[in-house]
Amino acid sequence: PAHRPLYGKHILITAGPTHEPIDPVRYIANRSSGRQGFAIAGWAAALGARVTLVAGPVALSTPTGVERIDVETAREMQQAVRDALPADVAVMVAAVADWRVDHAADSKMKKQNGQVPALQLTENPDILASLSADDRRPGLVIGFAAETDNVIAYAQDKRKRKGADWIVANDVSGDVMGGARNSVHIITAGGVESWEDLPKGEVAKRLVERIADELV
Ligand code: C5P
Repeated sequence: PAHRPLYGKHILITAGPTHEPIDPVRYIANRSSGRQGFAIAGWAAALGARVTLVAGPVALSTPTGVERIDVETAREMQQAVRDALPADVAVMVAAVADWRVDHAADSKMKKQNGQVPALQLTENPDILASLSADDRRPGLVIGFAAETDNVIAYAQDKRKRKGADWIVANDVSGDVMGGARNSVHIITAGGVESWEDLPKGEVAKRLVERIADELV
């Protein structure tokens, strides 16, 4: 029906940051709040989809009608995404940490007389790129790109490099990370759709409506 255009569709969404342990009490993280991804999940459910939301550590309540899977690290997020397949649409909004500590300590690292630990980092899996290359790739794969400079050009490059169908590019030179508003460009194979500065809830609603139009 017209008011539930995503009925029968499974939409898989990642949101929030990841935490990468250094030792049992410390971690590497970023400033993602998860608000944009949670808002998308809420609207997808409201428009009738079955929604799986794979969430990093955030302080947000689960939107109505959404199945939420909490994870901490990028590798846990990747596994949860695989476990949630098949899906019709994937919207990868999470700010996945690019690096993790290669060998996290099993016990708390102690401060010792002026010696500073050297953290050896290793690259995390790219969840979006690997999903795009998966045998069970969803028919519509959407990534996000937070950039401060050359927003559209970098996002167009990212769309191709990661094998996504769309990239939602946002200019984070202001206070988007953790903030309430977002200014986005939708990069598709066909071109660029630039939206005016909007509350994150409105970006989410329009994006989910745009997804529903695409699936018709
Ligand atoms: O960090 P980057 O700008 O490359 O992120 C672009 C897109 O890729 C986002 O949709 C993000 O969720 C996704 N990503 C991912 N796994 C990573 C890094 C980014 O799924 N390790």
